[in-house]
This record gives sequence, C-alpha cells and structure tokens, in this order.
Amino acid sequence: MTAILEVSDLTMRFGGLTALDSLSFKVNDHETVGLIGPNGAGKTTAFNVISGVLAPTSGTVHYRGSAITGLPTHRIVRHGVVRTFQSTSVFAKASVLDNIVCGGFVNWETGFVSNLFNGAKTRATQAAARDRAMELIRLAGIEELAHSAAGELSYGHQKRLGLLVALAASPSLLLLDEPAAGLNAEESEELAEFIRSVKQQLQIAVLLVEHHIEMITSLCDRLIVLEYGRKIADGPVAEVRQDPRVVDAYLGVDDDDDA
Ligand SMILES: Nc1ncnc2c1ncn2[C@@H]1O[C@H](COP(=O)(O)OP(=O)(O)O)[C@@H](O)[C@H]1O
Ligand SMILES: [Mg+2]
Repeated sequence: MTAILEVSDLTMRFGGLTALDSLSFKVNDHETVGLIGPNGAGKTTAFNVISGVLAPTSGTVHYRGSAITGLPTHRIVRHGVVRTFQSTSVFAKASVLDNIVCGGFVNWETGFVSNLFNGAKTRATQAAARDRAMELIRLAGIEELAHSAAGELSYGHQKRLGLLVALAASPSLLLLDEPAAGLNAEESEELAEFIRSVKQQLQIAVLLVEHHIEMITSLCDRLIVLEYGRKIADGPVAEVRQDPRVVDAYLGVDDDDDA
C-alpha cells in the first residue's frame, strides 16, 4: 500500500482555540477512510487545511511526495486533491451538464483566460470537457437529467451532482464533507451506493466526513477519530468501533445501529 496523502503534525489555531492539535495521518491509494468525531472536533478544519482553504498554524501536508501545505486551492486541485463542501452549491439555473463542465475548468491545460483568446483550442478543450462531463453523467446513470436545470433536481440528485462536479476535476483523492447531510436513511443509502460505484469505476481514494454511521461502516476501509482536534483512534472499522475511547467520545452517543 502506498500512502498518497500524508498529514504531519498539523496544528490550526483560531485565536485561543486549537482546532487541530498535532494531527498526523495517512491515506493510501484507492483507500476509503472515514474521518469522524463529535461536532467541533476539527473535521472540516482538516479538510480546509488539506484543500488549501486555510494555511495551518504549523505542520505539513504532502500529496504523492509533493509538499502542498498552504498552496492555493486551484493548485492543490491540480495535484489531484478535490473536496466538496458541507453544503452543496450548484448553479441552479444551469443544466446538469454545464455544472459538470464548469467543475472541469480547473483542469484546463492552459488557463481559462488564455483559452478565451484561442478559438480553435478553446473549442477542442470545451468538447473534451463536455465529453468528460457526459461520461460522468453516464457513469452516474442520470442521462435523462443531463439537460435539466440543476435547481429542479431532487435534493438527493443535487447531492450527486455536487459529487460529479468535484469528479470533473479528475481527482485521485476526493474529500467529502458530510455528503449525506439532510438526507433521510433511504436517500443516504442510495448516495452510499453511488459513492461506492463511482469509487470503484474511477479507482480513486476517498476521505469521508460523515455522521451517518451506516454510511461510514458500509463504505470505509479504515476510520480515523478526532476529538478536540486530536486523533484518538486510527484503524480498521470493526476495531475502531470497539475502542472504548471512541465509544465514549462519539459512537455511543448517536449510534442507531442494532448493536
Ligand atoms: N474560521 C474559523 N474561525 C474560528 N474558529 C473556527 C473556524 N473554523 C472552525 N473554527 C472552530 O474550530 C473548531 C473545529 O471546527 P470544525 O472543523 O468546523 O469542526 P467539525 O467539522 O468537526 O464539526 C470549532 O470549535 C469551530 O468553532
Ligand atoms: Mg464540519
């Protein structure tokens, strides 16, 4: 197993508050890792630092051997690390297809502006972006929705679209921040199935923040547990779920499994 993401000794302070406290962990190629912990544990902050939304107070993030700590988001995306946000935002009036094409813009070889002034190249690049978007739409099995306005989709479909927009940037590591938030049990099961099939077909690694414990256990190879910005457990799902510290800190509280 090769580690692709290596987070080392990451600390993030907001004034007097330590949101991340010497956090270190790795994600291996093709692995699905769950990042869990109570509200305020630092999960979104970890995503913000890894994806370049925030520069850490100290510590480093490496991706496939390159230091990406503190780089701007669009450069981190080009390294292959793409994240979604806790609240999905799509362009409501644009079609599903156009939303996904937009997600791929970051991947354009020459920048957006230079493309505007190079007609032939632009058309070729746009055609490639459209092909890629259609491929993702087919992969998601939502061909019939390709030309619908994103704002008219059901909430569950909008969530999937958010994922496809992120995938259009061709990540090798996808960071998902509470993708099932606001979905009922059936919808989140459908979303889990969707993530599983996308992951399998695209052969990518996923780091998943989620409160739906069924989704975590059904998707993840490994769990990392945060509490007050510190890592308190890291291991195979079945093992971590038995860890008394984890049960105390988190899993015992809202575990609605039959256990
Ligand atoms: N930009 C920020 N400025 C100040 N405090 C923040 C900021 N972002 C997060 N925090 C604080 O850091 C802690 C961790 O938050 P967060 O990473 O959002 O937790 P989680 O996603 O695990 O619920 C919380 O106490 C939160 O209030
Ligand atoms: Mg959060």
